[in-house]
Amino acid sequence: MAKATFRLWRGGTHQPGAFVDYATEVSEGMVVLDAVHRIQAEQAPDLACRWNCKAGKCGSCSAEINGRPKLMCMTRLNTLDLAEPVTVEPMRAFPLLKDLVTDVSINFRIKPGIRKFAPRTPDAADGTWRMAQRDVDRVQEFRKCIECYLCQDVCHVIRDHAKHEDGFIGPRFLVYAAALEMHPLDTGDRLGDLKDRHGLGYCNITKCCTTVCPEHIHITDNAIIPLKERVVDRYYDPVTRLLRMFRG
Ligand code: SF4
Ligand code: F3S
Ligand code: FES
Repeated sequence: MAKATFRLWRGGTHQPGAFVDYATEVSEGMVVLDAVHRIQAEQAPDLACRWNCKAGKCGSCSAEINGRPKLMCMTRLNTLDLAEPVTVEPMRAFPLLKDLVTDVSINFRIKPGIRKFAPRTPDAADGTWRMAQRDVDRVQEFRKCIECYLCQDVCHVIRDHAKHEDGFIGPRFLVYAAALEMHPLDTGDRLGDLKDRHGLGYCNITKCCTTVCPEHIHITDNAIIPLKERVVDRYYDPVTRLLRMFRG
């Protein structure tokens, strides 16, 4: 076994924070979460760390590893330079609770504000619907989201400008809105909300969200840009505006 040093953020709402170095044994196949668990077991039993599945599917173990938003359970040690201390710190876009754990509850409050799925009337005698496979495929990608909020963490509109306080729902919920808007059965209309209430215009397509998504969802190209195009077509295209004026 070899030794590696992990530089973990320690601190919380009631104590000033600082990085603390822990040297621990590592072996082949380990991920960052394994090392954090070993440190918890052997040196720091009071270290707070949120996790659940250890399989990249619950979205709980999000953190910043060497400054990059990542899942601790999916970051293998052999992808990191262990000659240097590995820094592990909580997501910066969310309020710190303790050590590596942040308060991500703002996301739970954003979601209910998005207009819900409203399916059209069944179109078959047996009460079911008919959909084209290509329409189903378009939204399937968005349903892979594990709500890890790494995309919310990295987005500068939230991280540096705190625009979620002005209603910006962030990339995760633009993906969610796109999944509903593009759903072949949905009759809901969210374009007005996206323009006026959900801050779609704040996104300037930096694509950082897409870069960090552990599910490799093409957040910007497949969700955000098509939503922007729909808003532009409806509200800013001069021909459409003229037609709307004539129709009253
Ligand atoms: Fe995480 Fe990707 Fe979902 Fe964002 S879109 S919350 S990065 S899985
Ligand atoms: Fe933010 Fe992604 Fe847009 S990082 S600015 S939501 S492209
Ligand atoms: Fe579930 Fe990492 S522990 S995604």
